[in-house]
Amino acid sequence: MTEARELRCRQLDRWTLHEYGLVRSTNDVAGGLPAWHAVRAESQSAGRGRWRRVWVSDVGGLWISAVLPLEGDLGRWLALPLAVGLAVVRTLALAGVSGLRLRWPNDVLLGEAKLAGLLLEHLRPGLAVAGIGINVDNAPASVDASLRHTSTRLRDVSPAAPPIDQLAASLLVELGRVHNTMRQQGFAALLPEVNALWQPRQVQLDLGAGRLATGSFGEVDAEGRLALREAGGQVSWHSAGEVIQLKELS
Ligand code: BTN
Repeated sequence: MTEARELRCRQLDRWTLHEYGLVRSTNDVAGGLPAWHAVRAESQSAGRGRWRRVWVSDVGGLWISAVLPLEGDLGRWLALPLAVGLAVVRTLALAGVSGLRLRWPNDVLLGEAKLAGLLLEHLRPGLAVAGIGINVDNAPASVDASLRHTSTRLRDVSPAAPPIDQLAASLLVELGRVHNTMRQQGFAALLPEVNALWQPRQVQLDLGAGRLATGSFGEVDAEGRLALREAGGQVSWHSAGEVIQLKELS
């Protein structure tokens, strides 16, 4: 594939936003840039999701990756994936969507249908690339029919939502805000807002090496670990890195 060509570069507050037509993955392009740079593309030929899944990235969606600095002790950033999920929810709420929920660790859903997905990668020390995909005007089910009942898009749930350019700008503002809160006050300051976005559910955790755990999930702690309340009443805590997959059972 020939190297993708940058179409436009805009300054948005502290962010520098690079805009492309087609790229393989915005996370890869952003992986070579400094903090507070972001990359948006009209489409991706090799968009990727968590656990190496393919992420359908047809024209009309918001495909963007933002480079965030992780200053100081890495431990204080462990819950960043959850904070980024919150930034996406805030952006979509400002775009007129109500009733959003989070599915661990940071899928953004309306009911059972996914509106946005996030992939955080640490491609270099001290930096995180937050890759965010939001279905806006695109039609993921026309590319992969299996997405018909599991995905939704912004235009269908909030017809008056702003155009994609404005949505991108608003998302970068919200990302800057949650980052600033974490830097100054820690994740604990975001915890009540994040915990209000889980709908308590029965879940099954795949913890690797054939280990499965079942129970109810509805909160995380200040380190971003999920609490699993098992049938006997005992609670176990699990970090995002430990959980290979969370399956909602109800
Ligand atoms: C998931 O739900 O599994 C995560 C999906 C993340 C998709 C976004 S789109 C922008 C960025 N570039 C990628 O290749 N992936 C992320």
